[in-house]
Amino acid sequence: MEQGATLEAVLRSEARASSDAALAGAAATAILRMAEAAIELSALMAQPPLAGRLGAATGAANSDGDGQRKLDLVAEDLFAGALRKAPVACYLSEEVDEALLFDGAGVLAVAIDPLDGSSNIDVNGPVGTIFSILPTLPQAAADPALAFGQTGRAQIAAGFFIYGPQTSLLVSLGRGVSLFVLNRPQRAFTLVESNIEIPQGMAEFAINASNQRHWREPVRRYIDDCMRGADGPHGRNFNMRWVGSLVADAYRIFMRGGVFLYPADDRKGYGQGRLRLMYEANPIAFLVEHAGGAATDGTEPVLDRRPAALHERAPLIMGSLDKVERIIGYHRDLAPSGEVAAQRS
Ligand code: F6P
Repeated sequence: MEQGATLEAVLRSEARASSDAALAGAAATAILRMAEAAIELSALMAQPPLAGRLGAATGAANSDGDGQRKLDLVAEDLFAGALRKAPVACYLSEEVDEALLFDGAGVLAVAIDPLDGSSNIDVNGPVGTIFSILPTLPQAAADPALAFGQTGRAQIAAGFFIYGPQTSLLVSLGRGVSLFVLNRPQRAFTLVESNIEIPQGMAEFAINASNQRHWREPVRRYIDDCMRGADGPHGRNFNMRWVGSLVADAYRIFMRGGVFLYPADDRKGYGQGRLRLMYEANPIAFLVEHAGGAATDGTEPVLDRRPAALHERAPLIMGSLDKVERIIGYHRDLAPSGEVAAQRS
């Protein structure tokens, strides 16, 4: 479709071309409802008085134990309300402990992080909303949590909104990744680019380097080798970036390539990294694979991880295919202790 096409026109046309047009059509409706919520949230965040909405803690904590901020709760209400107007049977949010049953006749299960990167709010940095759309399962009518036992491969669609200088949406219904930007006067998302491909060859990595002493050997060696620059095994000088907001770090990867790592490390509680599988790692991995990149936990593709708990974490190493394959090689060849492991065939 041409630049400037509306989100609705693009999604409806992709849904019609899908092998399960009814399910893809339902996913398109859910995305359109979420887009309305995103437009409202974006407007709220742009309005003074910021202090009235942003930053202030409520005293409560979300499923991660992070202090919930007012805006997290505003975002939760907006997106849950939007998805109640879509054919969504099962709903899982970072802000809610349990999975919820919405419309018993709905065909979708949606996992969402309504406001990701909220520590960036206080510094006026980019934040976002990440979502994953799965088909629901018959047994989920009795227990909505069961719909979220599927691997990321089962996703029908995924995407994220990013509220930065522009409010943008990167989304895939399984037929390539498209970028939309909010046209504020028209209150509509319009197409900027379709079939986004993550570029290869970019010598840039993103990792929270303050955790270096806790990293395991394959990640430590890979980053050490990047830091050695042109004198190291990569033979190139690397640049480093870390916004600390997954949507912003991921957006950069889609636009110019490189690699993002939130690996498992040896801190207490970080044995599976920090990011949540259902509404952070899986949707980003889905987009990355549909843009020709790769996403791994070090040993297996993120999309193949079978979840055991609703809010479980997963290591996420994602980005340009060349970089991620190289890092998988470090994991294959190095035991966590640093010994050279037996080569796998
Ligand atoms: O999961 C929330 C999040 O803020 C992500 O958006 C971001 O990638 C990560 O945590 C940052 O973690 P850290 O504060 O450990 O760098």
